[in-house]
Amino acid sequence: MDFRLEMLYFPGLKWEILLCICAGFLVVFYNLCKQYLQPNRYQNPEKETKHSRDKPHGEFKMPVPPAYPGWSLKTTKPLPYRAFRYGPKYNVTMGLRVVAPIDWIELDNQFPKFHADKAARIIERGEQCIKTHEEAFSAAVELLEELTEYLPARYPSLYQKTATGIRNLWSGESFNIQGRLLQEDPMVICSRLVQDDLALMIEQPDGQYRLLAGSILLAGFWRLSDKFGMTLSDIHTSGHVPHFHEKLEGGMLKFFQRLKCDKFYARNNYFIQVDESLPWSYSIGDEDSPALSWSTAEKNKAIEHHWFRSERQTLRRLPKTKAICFTIRTYFHPITDIVKEDHVPGRLASAVRSWDDWVAEYKGREKYEQVLLEYLDRKHKEQLCDGLGPVSEDTTEGYPW
Ligand code: HEM
Repeated sequence: MDFRLEMLYFPGLKWEILLCICAGFLVVFYNLCKQYLQPNRYQNPEKETKHSRDKPHGEFKMPVPPAYPGWSLKTTKPLPYRAFRYGPKYNVTMGLRVVAPIDWIELDNQFPKFHADKAARIIERGEQCIKTHEEAFSAAVELLEELTEYLPARYPSLYQKTATGIRNLWSGESFNIQGRLLQEDPMVICSRLVQDDLALMIEQPDGQYRLLAGSILLAGFWRLSDKFGMTLSDIHTSGHVPHFHEKLEGGMLKFFQRLKCDKFYARNNYFIQVDESLPWSYSIGDEDSPALSWSTAEKNKAIEHHWFRSERQTLRRLPKTKAICFTIRTYFHPITDIVKEDHVPGRLASAVRSWDDWVAEYKGREKYEQVLLEYLDRKHKEQLCDGLGPVSEDTTEGYPW
């Protein structure tokens, strides 16, 4: 119909109004085209990301490890992880290294203490420390099955495989792991078998990994009840992990998406603690208090109260459920012990001085730097006077340091 004709039929209609209606039609038409021509931009992100657990990871079966050479519950000492570097600059990095699948879990003569601390905390704190979401149940069972295969092969003097599960020859505990009718939450049984704390990260339809099963009994500075169900990013940002957004987040998320079942990784960290409690560092507050902070810690305690805490963490993807298993093994020693090792006082003092303000605040440096640095400097001088040579390449690079 001719516009002039239309004006005759609708004499009140103005040209300006007609122009507005046309422009409106054009905008709607443009948006419809965009939606159909570029479908991904408007899709629900849940549909957009293909599950990495659906992607092919290849068939992987955990190799049966050889027995740990000469391992003994009485004489095998904790490995001397001293994961601190000389300054002047402290670099925040993911710090991941590849480890052989046979080195997945480390046990040593500290097992009885860790086992006893865990047993007490399972009774005292139960679900606050160990929890399995129903979505993670099959992954927790898979972790239990993997440990039941791995431990008796790796530590045959401590563990024996049985027709229905696994027996601890030292404690006398026997675990039947068959069927869904387990005596306990599978994460509880897993935690009784190793010295590590354990976490299972389950991929969600939007590609994010969430903490949906955990046995976090000896973490010292964080609580499972604060982090359960969180995404990887929220776990770290809620704890104000220094430089997380700029230095860690992107790489970490990609790493989780791409992790293959046959590649195992590890990283080590370290902290100073100003009390002797392995399960929970009460200096940063009572475990049940709503807020935790270094501000509550007593300043400048005597050096005997300073402890070196280091975690060896491993990451692997479980082959059946494709959950990512995160293990956290803590190594815990009085500072007064580790300073006896060559170069340790000098290197630790240099590392502590190299932290920037954010890292220093996160690690609570203000509460112990005076006492600790004075002591480390003195011990370093003593080592030099005793004829300690210069630092060799081997002590600045590589693990276990
Ligand atoms: C590529 C893997 C990961 C990297 C590179 C990483 C890195 C870090 C870093 C740098 C910190 C600060 C303390 C430290 O120096 O270690 C930290 C803290 C922490 N991470 Fe991770 N992390 C990873 C995976 C995980 C996973 C899978 C969990 C799941 C439980 C987790 C839980 C935590 C918690 C609870 C803290 C303490 C946060 C707080 O202070 O509240 N991390 N992580």
